[in-house]
Amino acid sequence: MNAPEKLKLASSAAGRSVPHESARAQVSGNAHYVDDLPEVRGTLYAAPILSTVAHGRLLGVDSHAALAMPGVQAVVLASDIPGDTVLAAFAHDEPIFASDTVQHIGQVVGLVVASTVMQARAAARAVKLDIEALPALLDVRAAYAAQSYVLPPVFVRRGDAAQAIAAAPHTLSGQLEVGGQEHFYLEGQIAYVLPQEQGQWLVHSSTQHPGEVQHWVAHALGLANHAVRVECRRMGGGFGGKETQAGHLAVWAAIAAHKLGRPIKLRLDRDDDFSITGKRHPFAYDYTVGFDGAGRICGFQLLMLANCGFSADLSGPVADRAVFHADNAYFLADVDISSYRLKTHTQSHTAFRGFGGPQGVIVIETILSEIARQLGLDPLEVRRHNLYDAADTPNPQRNTTHYQMAVEDNILHPILSKIEQSAHYQERRKAISAWNAANPVIQRGISITPVKFGISFTATLFNQAGALVHVYTDGSVQVNHGGTEMGQGLNTKVAQIVADELGIPFESVLATAADTSKVPNASATAASSGTDLNGRAAQYAARNVRDNLAQFAAGLDGCGAGAVRFQNGQVITPTASRPFTSLVQQAYANRIQLWSDGFYRTPKIHYDKTTLTGRPFYYFAYGAACSEVAIDTLTGESRVLKIDILYDAGTSINPAIDIGQVEGGFIQGVGWLTTEQLVWNAKGALSTHAPSTYKIPATGDIPAHFKVDLWDQPNREDNVFGSKAVGEPPFMLAISVFEAMKEAIAAARGDGAVVQLAAPATAENVLRALTASAA
Ligand code: MTE
Ligand code: MOS
Repeated sequence: MNAPEKLKLASSAAGRSVPHESARAQVSGNAHYVDDLPEVRGTLYAAPILSTVAHGRLLGVDSHAALAMPGVQAVVLASDIPGDTVLAAFAHDEPIFASDTVQHIGQVVGLVVASTVMQARAAARAVKLDIEALPALLDVRAAYAAQSYVLPPVFVRRGDAAQAIAAAPHTLSGQLEVGGQEHFYLEGQIAYVLPQEQGQWLVHSSTQHPGEVQHWVAHALGLANHAVRVECRRMGGGFGGKETQAGHLAVWAAIAAHKLGRPIKLRLDRDDDFSITGKRHPFAYDYTVGFDGAGRICGFQLLMLANCGFSADLSGPVADRAVFHADNAYFLADVDISSYRLKTHTQSHTAFRGFGGPQGVIVIETILSEIARQLGLDPLEVRRHNLYDAADTPNPQRNTTHYQMAVEDNILHPILSKIEQSAHYQERRKAISAWNAANPVIQRGISITPVKFGISFTATLFNQAGALVHVYTDGSVQVNHGGTEMGQGLNTKVAQIVADELGIPFESVLATAADTSKVPNASATAASSGTDLNGRAAQYAARNVRDNLAQFAAGLDGCGAGAVRFQNGQVITPTASRPFTSLVQQAYANRIQLWSDGFYRTPKIHYDKTTLTGRPFYYFAYGAACSEVAIDTLTGESRVLKIDILYDAGTSINPAIDIGQVEGGFIQGVGWLTTEQLVWNAKGALSTHAPSTYKIPATGDIPAHFKVDLWDQPNREDNVFGSKAVGEPPFMLAISVFEAMKEAIAAARGDGAVVQLAAPATAENVLRALTASAA
C-alpha cells in the first residue's frame, strides 16, 4: 500500500504514516487483550444457559444435573440479581436474564459457574429449561403486518411525494430485501469482573463504551457508578458489535461474581457469540419514484422495515440514520419516508459499521441504477444528475436534505470526475460490453457509486469528549482519553496530535487504556468520530500544558508567551532554544503544572428527534468507488476483479491508517453484500453460527488491483488538524460491487427487465436474479 506521504516538516507527527502504536506488539503476540491478563487467584469461569425456543413461557429451570457435574460451583439466574432485573439500556425493555418469557433462541437465561471454562460450558448444556412455546414472529414483513414494534414508527416528509410521482413522466416501484451481518470481531465478547475492597468492582471488558458498562453493572448490582471501574486497553475488533453488547457480558459476569464473591471470567465461544449477540439490522423496503427523461428523481416514497429483533437496543438511532442516508448523495425533491422499527423473535440487532447508513444508501443506489437501465442511460450519468449542488454553487437550489440540513460541503462532482478518469470507467465500460457480447457464460459489470456520510452522533449530547495529558519530569508524555482502541488507530492518531501540539517526537507520547476512573462519562467510540472528539479534547489538554510551559519560558527570556514555539523537541523563544525535556525539568522545579485535562464539544449541531429535522451532522465525509466484477451465469458465482477508491479523509492525520480503514471498511461491506448470509431456520434458530457456514471475505477474495487514493483537501469545517472521519463511510462504497453485479446480471439477461437481486448476492441469489421471470 503506497500511502501518499504528506510533505510535512520532518518533525511533525500528524500527517505522517507512523505505524499503529500496537502494531509490533500485536504481530509478536505481546499485545494484551482481556483474556491475556494475568488471572487473579480464585478466578472462576462462566458459560451461558441459552433459550432453545424463539418465543415462549419459561415455566422452570432444572439445574440438578448441571450442579452435579464436575467442577460446577453454581447456577446463576434472574433471582440472583441484587439490583434492577431489567438492563439499564435506554429503552429499559430488556431483562438481564430471561425469567418469565423467552424471546429468541440463544437468549441468556443464566450462567453456570465452574472451575474451568470447559466444565462450565458442558454443564450449561445440561441445564433443562421447561418452555411452553408461543407463536414466534420471525419475518420482518409479518412483524409489520402484525404491528409488532420495538419503538414507534417515524415519518419524514417534504413536499407532496404522491403528487410529484403522479405528475412525473416516468415511475418505478419495487421491493428490496437486504440481509444483516455478523460482526465477526476476531476477539469474541469477553468480560472479567473482579470484586474489590469495600463493595467496589473492577471490570475488564472488551467494549467500545466503558462508561456504559460501568453504568449497567452499577445499576444491576444496585450500586453508585463510582463503585465500578471499567478498563479496556484494546479490542480485537468491535465494528459496532461491542457498543452495547459488551455490557451484557459484564453485567452477567458481575452478577455471578456478586453471588459467589469470586472473580468471574465470561468468554463466549464463537457459536454462542453468534447465537446470543445482535447483528446488523436486516431491512426490507417498498419504494416508488417519479423521475424525468434524464433520470432526475422528483418524487420518492419509501417504506423502510428494520428488523430489530426482540428489544430496542440501538434500533432507534440505527433506523434514524437509515432515514438520514436514504438520500445518500442526492437531492430528492418531494419525499415521503416511513420508518418502522419491528420486533421479531431473534437476537436484538445492534450497531454495525455505518449504523443504518448502509441500509439507507443501498436503496437509493438500487433505484438510481434501475432508472438508468429503464431509460437506457449510463447509471453514472443518472447519479450525477441527481447529486446535491456542489459546495461552490452560487445560488444553490438543490442542497437541502429531506431532514432540512443544508449540504454546504459537497465535493462529489470533482470526486466522481476524478475517479471516472483515473479508473478509466468509460473505456472499461465499452470493453466490458464487447466482452459480454463475446462471452455469454462469464458476464462482467462495472459501477461507480459515491458516498456522503453524516459525521456526528445523531444524539447531540454524545458529541462531547474529555482527555488528560500528563507530562512527566523526563519529558515523556501519557495521554488518556474517553475513546477506545479497536484496531482503528485512534490511540495512534491521538498520540500524533499530542506530539505535534507539544512539538515533540511521536515516540515520546504513550496513549493508555480507556478507564472510567480517568475520563468519566465518555461516549461510545462510534459514529466514526473517535478522533474528531477525543483528538480535539487531547489537543486542548496538551495546549493547556504547552501554555503553562510557554508562560514559564517567556518569563525566563523576557518575551511574550505568544512568541514561544514548540518544535523538533525544542522550546524556542526569540533569544534561546531549550530541549523540551530541560524546560520541563526547570518548570517542575518552579512548581508549574505539567498535566491538564481537555474538553471538546462539537459545535453547530442540533436536531429534533421527533421530526428528525435539524443539523444532526457537523460535516459530511465523501468518497467514490469504481468496482468491476464477473459472474458465472451457470453457477451464480462471482468475483471482484478490480477496485478503485477515492476517499475524502480531509487532511489525513495518518494516511497509512486511513487507507487501511478504507480498505477494511470496503471489504467488510463486500462481505455484507456478497457472501455473508445469516440464515434463521423455521424455528428461529440461527443455523449459520460458525465460520463453517458463515463466510466472511478472505485474502483470496481481494483482487490484485485494489487502489485507494485519498482526496487532498482539508475539511471545510474546523475539525482537528483539518481531518475527516474515516471509520465507517468507506463501508458503503462496497455498494459499487453490488451494483456492478446487477450490471452483469442485466447484461446476461439482455431483456431489459428489472434486476431483482436480494442482498447478499450469494450464488443462489444471483442465479435467482438471472432466471426470475421478467416483471
Ligand atoms: N477498524 C478496526 N480495525 N476495528 C474495528 O472494530 N470499527 C469501525 C471503524 N473501524 C472498527 C474499525 C467502526 S463501526 C467505527 S464507528 C469506527 O471504527 C470507530 O472508531 P473511530 O471513531 O475512532 O474511527
Ligand atoms: Mo460504529 S457502528 O458507530 O461502532
